[in-house]
Amino acid sequence: MSVLLFVFLGLAQASEPDDIPQRLYNAYCINCHTKDEKVIDFNESTPEEKMIEKIRAGEGGMPTYSWLFDDEDLKSIIEYMKNLPQ
Ligand code: HEC
Repeated sequence: MSVLLFVFLGLAQASEPDDIPQRLYNAYCINCHTKDEKVIDFNESTPEEKMIEKIRAGEGGMPTYSWLFDDEDLKSIIEYMKNLPQ
């Protein structure tokens, strides 16, 4: 898995670095979190630190991602999710 992730991030970085949050979101979060009816309890008013905590801890149906992302990654993904195209 870590080898796969390395390759994945390597590819993402090689092309357009600005795309990374979008790519991570598309790869790991889109199945459960979208702006349509599939969105699961993604309340944009939740403070960012709380969101990061939740993502790290895993909660309810939410898998834990602490092994995969650092805070900077999570911040950029959360930013991206807040600004998802409708
Ligand atoms: C398997 C489905 C699933 C996947 C994949 C998933 N989530 Fe979640 N997520 C959930 C569920 C279910 C909750 C609600 C948990 C709860 O509070 O009971 C949640 C809650 C959250 C929350 C808290 C929202 C709030 O307002 O409190 C954030 C932030 C979040 N997810 C971000 C992410 C990110 C970022 C990813 C990708 C790295 C991701 N999720 C991938 C199912 C998923």
